[in-house]
Amino acid sequence: MKHKIIVTGGLGFIGSHVVVELQNEGFEVIIIDDLSNSSVAVLNGITAITGKKPVFEKLDLRDKPSVIDFFKRHHDIIGVIHFAASKAVGESVNLPLLYYENNLNSLIYILQELYKKDTANFIFSSSCTVYGQADTLPITESESIKNAESPYGNTKQIGEEIIRDTCKVSENLKAIALRYFNPIGAHESAKIGELPIGTPQNLVPFITQTGIGLREQLSVFGDDYPTEDGTCIRDYIHVVDLAKAHVAALKRLIDNKNAENYEVFNIGTGKGSSVLDVIKSFESVANKKLNYKIVDRRQGDVIAAYADTHKANTVLGWKAQLNLEDALASAWKWEQKIRNT
Ligand code: WQD
Repeated sequence: MKHKIIVTGGLGFIGSHVVVELQNEGFEVIIIDDLSNSSVAVLNGITAITGKKPVFEKLDLRDKPSVIDFFKRHHDIIGVIHFAASKAVGESVNLPLLYYENNLNSLIYILQELYKKDTANFIFSSSCTVYGQADTLPITESESIKNAESPYGNTKQIGEEIIRDTCKVSENLKAIALRYFNPIGAHESAKIGELPIGTPQNLVPFITQTGIGLREQLSVFGDDYPTEDGTCIRDYIHVVDLAKAHVAALKRLIDNKNAENYEVFNIGTGKGSSVLDVIKSFESVANKKLNYKIVDRRQGDVIAAYADTHKANTVLGWKAQLNLEDALASAWKWEQKIRNT
């Protein structure tokens, strides 16, 4: 009998790649998405890759009666992988109540439904942003949680606490939070990938859009940081490797090997790359010079963040297989595909 799993935000960048890997592993997937930051066309991309069309329901998870009705209709699920959330750091500073309502109410309503079930597994999309500027690098899961720099980051911190406290008093709900570092790239088929709406806030989509001529020039936010080349360092992980970490986490929950009811894992490559490293690597894979200039620092940026992946490697049995060049080559292939060049 196939395990049936709900993926909220399953038409988004990371969610769609996780749906593909779940289907590849034989799971039956039901996608919930409100289409506020995704397109129903992504379903075709997923189906073209796996040959299996996931069930899709458009649903606003802030609508509690609809959530209750949905879970009544899908009572035979083994759990939820929860991506659905607003995720633009800058926007969250200007629209805090939108972020707290969307990101926290939807989480609470889902957990209330899972709490009623005899057994339930829950995987939460968290972020290394909860660490702020870590005191120690590489960053382990025991690194202290800093005061969030943005309402977005705060919703991830509060979200983890809500899950932790719920699992503490529930016999049958088990959860894993995955703290992503910097997801980049696209599926090798170029049938799914990142679809930023408007001007990309993140580095790699801005680079590929500059490379394809959609953007005039990349602005590098500061080269006066205390790093080797003065630019910030991040742990850029291929989105397919990140997707496979979700399957590993789900299998751990299903196999009931969970030591505690709530566990946290850092999901990165363990390697730090500077902004200039990424630019140089892109120029190499795309075989073209990138037009960029150095500008002032961006408020809220941490100097460096890259993962200690020992816990995920040993406990989840998961390790990133792809490197920065693989990820940038896939991002570039995807950019060219969606611009039909
Ligand atoms: C990476 C580096 C920028 C754009 C954010 C969120 C995090 C997660 C991933 C959701 C930084 C520099 C960027 C540009 C640049 N999002 N940069 N010019 O800020 O590490 O993480 O996205 O979960 O929660 O905080 O990623 O790609 O925005 O920036 O110089 O046009 O690239 O200064 O050093 P970030 P990013």
